[in-house]
Amino acid sequence: MLRTKVAMSLNVRGARLGMLLALVTALAACGGGGDGVASTPMPTSGPPAASVGPLRDAATGAGKWVGAAVQSGYIASEPDYVATLSRHFSYLTAEYEMKWDPIQREQGVFDFSGGDAIVAFAEANGMRVKGHALVWHGATPPWVGTLSPPELRDAMANHIRTVASHYRGHVAAWDVVNEAIATDGSGLRDTVFSRGLGPDYIAAAFRTAREADPGALLFYNEYDAEGKGLKSDRVYELVQGLKQGGVPIDGVGMQMHVDATSYPQPADIAANMQRLAALGLLVNISEMDVRIRTAPGSTAQRLDLQKHVFHDIVAVCAAEARCHAVTFWGFSDKHSWIDAFFGADNPLLFDEGYRAKPAFFGVEDAFLGR
Ligand code: XIL
Repeated sequence: MLRTKVAMSLNVRGARLGMLLALVTALAACGGGGDGVASTPMPTSGPPAASVGPLRDAATGAGKWVGAAVQSGYIASEPDYVATLSRHFSYLTAEYEMKWDPIQREQGVFDFSGGDAIVAFAEANGMRVKGHALVWHGATPPWVGTLSPPELRDAMANHIRTVASHYRGHVAAWDVVNEAIATDGSGLRDTVFSRGLGPDYIAAAFRTAREADPGALLFYNEYDAEGKGLKSDRVYELVQGLKQGGVPIDGVGMQMHVDATSYPQPADIAANMQRLAALGLLVNISEMDVRIRTAPGSTAQRLDLQKHVFHDIVAVCAAEARCHAVTFWGFSDKHSWIDAFFGADNPLLFDEGYRAKPAFFGVEDAFLGR
């Protein structure tokens, strides 16, 4: 099912991801499963998706799962989308349809149709699925904000239990809590959950998820906490505390929505992955895309810069034994959330016509160790 397109042009050039949270929240709350404004088609002349790769073979050779965020509406309606997805990817994440709002928009009324369609497609094509996300302020329906603290605690437990039980045996992993740290890294983000339940809501969410689906890997997922910085340090402290407290957490997802003109240094990402791995955690790259809207130079130069950013960051995961997966937030520039949230861009591996961009070969090279 495709959500109504957000037919507005948002000029957010140069804004950091964190400054857009209110916007993400608002658009997600109004049913943000579409991908917004059209991107600017870039004249690329790469080979068709059907004639390169498969990327999943290169990833498998490196011992990694290679993933993409998807929407069931495109799976149902676009043959090229389906062909590209099934050829190149081994791991799917629901871009929108497994969040709280689409699943339980009204209290006690659960709609699993979108997520079920994605799971069915994945299972028919030999792919794993990551559920995303059980607890995230950005896709929480309004009724959650009207609850008293005890009601909120019960509602959160009920949501996690119902959803994780429904998908038990069908998902390899869950993003249990998404984006719980404040944008500036000063501490916990002020959300309906932290306000109502205090900091312990995070541990409670992981415990409930483990009970409901003991077989799924459980991740904490965050943005702008990939390399060095206050926010990365807060994430590290958070998950260190969870581990020390015996909370069932298996790893950390690094979203990796980056801009080609300023992105976390690969050496810092590697160091951050290593300190998380040293806690006994897995890591993964969970939502990667690379914006080139403001990158200088010709089209060829911008696409080449993008290729190198994809390569150098994916290579960090390829070289880290505890990094088990790289997921991109979409795969064709035809369908990317970036267009609506940051402005028209071309942030993914395939162009609008499902031709492989230089970025595709950068990622393939990284998995192949080249
Ligand atoms: C975005 C989706 O791409 C949009 O379609 C939706 O409207 C809002 O959410 N971090 C996350 C993702 O963890 O869930 C967000 O996905 C992008 C930022």
